[in-house]
Amino acid sequence: MNLPSTGFAPDLLAGRVAVVTGAASGIGRATAIALAAVGAQVAVSHWRAQEAAAEVVAAIAAAGGHAIAVEADVTSEAQVEALYAHAEAELGEVGIAVHAAGVIQEKSFLDTTAADWDFVVGTDLKAVFLCCRAALVRMAPRGRGTVINIASELGFLGRAQYAPYCAAKAGVIGLTRSLAREFAPALRVNAIAPGPIATPMLSLEHMSAEVLAREIAIPAARAGRPEEVAATAVFLASDLASFFHGQVLGPNGGAWMGG
Ligand SMILES: NC(=O)c1ccc[n+]([C@@H]2O[C@H](COP(=O)([O-])OP(=O)(O)OC[C@H]3O[C@@H](n4cnc5c(N)ncnc54)[C@H](O)[C@@H]3O)[C@@H](O)[C@H]2O)c1
Repeated sequence: MNLPSTGFAPDLLAGRVAVVTGAASGIGRATAIALAAVGAQVAVSHWRAQEAAAEVVAAIAAAGGHAIAVEADVTSEAQVEALYAHAEAELGEVGIAVHAAGVIQEKSFLDTTAADWDFVVGTDLKAVFLCCRAALVRMAPRGRGTVINIASELGFLGRAQYAPYCAAKAGVIGLTRSLAREFAPALRVNAIAPGPIATPMLSLEHMSAEVLAREIAIPAARAGRPEEVAATAVFLASDLASFFHGQVLGPNGGAWMGG
């Protein structure tokens, strides 16, 4: 396949079907492309990003792979269910679920409203619950499948001005570990907690210049590339990670070195 090489065997995930949320941009986009590059068929899930999602699907098709775009607001229970149902109807049994959709908001805690909380935690935590449930309700009776939730190093570190985001991401880690225990040994549920990654989220649109500068004051002295997170997702999705349950892998440039 003519997609950027992942370094993994090109047939590593041949015959597998993946759903990737947030797949029109950033980490989700790179993950959808990387999964397709190693043979998976991919449902490129997006929200209000038809053009960008179509571009991802076209890039995968041009390289000989197969993907479809599916629009879904991950905060909507009905739309998440429809996403998984549609992916299975079009592509077959979903065996890989990567939940990368998310939002971020910089705001002092004292200015944070209940609506802000609901927006951020609703998208970054409740929606991950909805997506995990839609994936696991299908995978559990079959006894096969794997879920990868995109958390954040900030779920460990915390960050001033980002309380709802950090709380949600810490929640994703607790959710992941709970599901890993509940669905093992047949299913594997893991998380990735990236450090600063060069995506639309890591920009002046969402962060002050001061926070942006602090984000890359880490041992690696740079922001990561979305492909560096996607490689972690490919690994976790594959049988190479067959002994990984409830783990939180950290492509983070050394921003966080705890467990
Ligand atoms: N970029 C970073 O530094 C960084 C670091 C740690 C974790 N993350 C996490 O990685 C994930 C991907 O973020 P990214 O950096 O690629 O940024 P991004 O903004 O490119 O991607 C987020 C995607 O989520 C989608 N989305 C937002 N709300 C949605 C909704 N209600 N329904 C469906 N889709 C929705 C957006 O359309 C977008 O495509 C997020 O969960 C983010 O919190 C990012």
